[in-house]
Formats: sequence, C-alpha cells, structure tokens
Amino acid sequence: MKKTVLVVGGGGREHAIVDALSRSPQVSKIYCAPGNAGIAEQAECVPLKDTDVDGLLAFAQQNAVDLTVVGPEAALAEGIVDRFRAAGLKIFGHTQAATAIESSKEFAKRLMAGAGVPTAAYRSFTVYEEALAYVRTGSFPTVIKYDGLAAGKGVVVAPDLEAAEAALRDMLLDARYGEGKVVIEEFLTGPEFSLMAFVSGRQVRPMVAAQDHKRAFDGDAGPNTGGMGAYTESFATGKSGLSFISDEEYDFAVDNILQPVADAMADAGTPLSGVLYGGLMKTPAGIKVIEFNARFGDPETEVVLPRFGSDIYSVFEAVAEGSTIPGISWRDESVMGVVMASKGYPGSYSKGAPIAVAPGFSESICHMGTKRAADGGLVTSGGRVLMVVSSAPTMAEASRRCYAGVSQVACDNLFYRHDIAKYVL
Ligand code: AMP
Ligand code: GLY
Repeated sequence: MKKTVLVVGGGGREHAIVDALSRSPQVSKIYCAPGNAGIAEQAECVPLKDTDVDGLLAFAQQNAVDLTVVGPEAALAEGIVDRFRAAGLKIFGHTQAATAIESSKEFAKRLMAGAGVPTAAYRSFTVYEEALAYVRTGSFPTVIKYDGLAAGKGVVVAPDLEAAEAALRDMLLDARYGEGKVVIEEFLTGPEFSLMAFVSGRQVRPMVAAQDHKRAFDGDAGPNTGGMGAYTESFATGKSGLSFISDEEYDFAVDNILQPVADAMADAGTPLSGVLYGGLMKTPAGIKVIEFNARFGDPETEVVLPRFGSDIYSVFEAVAEGSTIPGISWRDESVMGVVMASKGYPGSYSKGAPIAVAPGFSESICHMGTKRAADGGLVTSGGRVLMVVSSAPTMAEASRRCYAGVSQVACDNLFYRHDIAKYVL
C-alpha cells in the first residue's frame, strides 16, 4: 500500500527531505507543514507551525498520515514525538528527553565525559562571579556557550577577557536567552565538518560527511550564520565524503563518537530515534566533538540527501518503529550548495523582494525562505532564502555548475559566498 507522509518544517532542510521522499517508490502523498514556495511544487503545504503539536497531531489523524518526519529541533524539544507516539502514530525524530543531546550543552558534555568521547575540556556555571573568576585563570581565546537552545546564537568565542566578560554578563546577568547557565570550553583548532547518522537505539547508520560554511562572508569573515553553503565529495578520495577526512578518521568518528553516544543514550533510558548530527573538528590531537544536534543539519542535508541512493521511507520507518534499519547506498558524486541570503542577514533584513530564475535553469534549488506574492511571483521571505545545489562527478565541476546556477538567479536583495568548498578545491 502506498504511504502518506507528513514532513514538519519549512526550510531548505525540509525541501531536501521532501525531495528524497518523493523518490521513494512507496510514497504516494507528501504533506509539509508549513512548507514554503519551493516545497509546494513537490508536496501539499499545510499552514501549521512546526511547534503547533496539537494542530499537527489532529492533522495527521484526520488525513491518514502513515509516517511523520520532523525537521526542526524546536518541534522535538516541544515533545512532538512523545505526543504522536502516545496517540499511536508513527514518527521519525527524537523524544523530548533525548533531544537534550542538542538542547542542553551540559547534558551533552556530561554524556560525552561518561562515554569517553573526545571533546573540549569544560566547566559549567550559573553564577556570574564564579564564571568570571574561572575565565580569569584560563587562557584566550576561550569559548562560552549558553546552555540551551539559542537559535545558533548562544556560542561566543571570546578573544580576550573583555569579550568573555561581556558574554557572561549577557548570558548570566541579563539572561538574554532565558534562565542563565553557561558552559565554558577549551578553544580547539582545526577544520570543522558535519557527520550525521540515522540512529535507532544502538543502531547507527552513518551518512557521508559534509562541510558547512558558518560565517556570513568570503574567507570566513563576518558573523556566524545558520550556514552559507555546504558540500560533500565523491568517493574518489575515500569513503568519508570529504578529502581531508581519511577512512580511518571516518571510522574513528563513527566508532568512538557516534556509537558510544547512541549506546550511552540507550543506557540512560533515553534512546535516540532520529538523526544524530555531530559537529566535529579535526584537531591536531584527533577528531573531537564541538556540538551535537538532534536533527538533520541545515544546509548539510541539502547536499547529503541528493546522494542518498536507497529508499528513504524505509529508513525513516525503521527508525520510527525501532526495527532494523536497512543498509544505505550512497551515490558516488560530489554535491555543492550555495546559499543566497537576504542582504543584512544574519542581522535585520527586509522581505518581499522578487526572485526571477532564468528560463532553462538546470540546477536544483532548495527553497529556504520563499513565498508566493499575491500575483503568484516568487519573493523572499526569510534570512536564508534559497540554496542552489549541483551534483557532478567532481567537486570542481559541481562548483562550476553551482556558481553558473547562482548567476542565473536574479534578485536585488540577495548575497552569497563565492568560496564554498574552496578548502578542497
Ligand atoms: P556551535 O553552535 O556549538 O556549533 O558553535 C558555533 C561555532 O563556534 C562552531 O562552529 C565553532 O566554529 C565555534 N566553536 C564552538 N566550540 C568551540 C571550541 N571548543 N573551540 C573552537 N571553536 C569552537
Ligand atoms: N549547519 C549547522 C546546523 O544545522 O546546525
């Protein structure tokens, strides 16, 4: 019997998930809540917020949804998985308790310490004076992280005492993101990369790795963003998907980072049942964890899922049911994606700028923040607006095609980085 799926979320990540599901021979109907203008071409969009758990549950029940797939962490942290399961519905994503691997930095740090997973040394504090006394005794730069979901803005790499003091004041005295608690970490160096896996209890099925570009401008200048572009490389240089990560390093990350975390979560009575995203760094002392997320990465998903060569519905369903996850094949190709963002992002920006894609455009587009204006034209409606995604046998060819594609997207309020994948090109 053909399946009906509900995807929760409305960004580029969800567009990539919808696209992968649309390639499954088992899937006949896809809903996406709330979706966006690009997703609307592949799925039926439903005007419900990703955190409207009551609304989503009622929708799934009324529309005979066989499986729900959750994109954003906010919905997971809201307990959407617990609620759907209690109602007897199948859903892909972690429980509220398991989402602590992302929503609480301290929980993640304690779990890693217990499981012997390599990560930066740390201490946590709730009292401003104690935190400040601790940073005074340490070296700079130092890393200060707010212990909770802060929409990617809760991390400050402080170059000196003055910056550290300001960050601590913000997080502990002014309680900028809510109740104050911080983790202060040792500063690590080396290239960062993202390794995601489908995890169900103790089963870990790793994906190919990808590299994100978090800073707004070329040369890694400017403020941190949600991610301005990403890529993953063909198997020509090894199995990891990144030429600077050897097969041994990839195996190390799976066996000594992802697997022990899955085991520790199961041992703690909060087993994982979704995507485990490792934000990793290749330091001079080996691969270490910078952070975990409890969901698909954005924009990594937009370059990783085009390489997914199996039936993704079967994988989502197996994780949701706790049954054996089928083996996954990955296409041997390089994929690159360049994000086009509203001028001013990640600060304030305007919306509603018309976007025109040239006729005969041949690359893929993952819509991140777009909508249809009253006249039916495509307009911007978010900070990150869209991502042009290109696949090719080599990274150089994927890059050439991707930037040719970017030049065919006309909009006077967008900017993008010109150096995506430069690290490996
Ligand atoms: P996060 O939100 O935890 O991924 O942190 C945002 C960014 O801050 C990361 O992508 C790193 O570039 C940087 N960062 C976080 N923790 C550290 C650390 N311990 N050492 C160096 N850089 C870090
Ligand atoms: N690309 C970083 C993230 O998804 O958190």
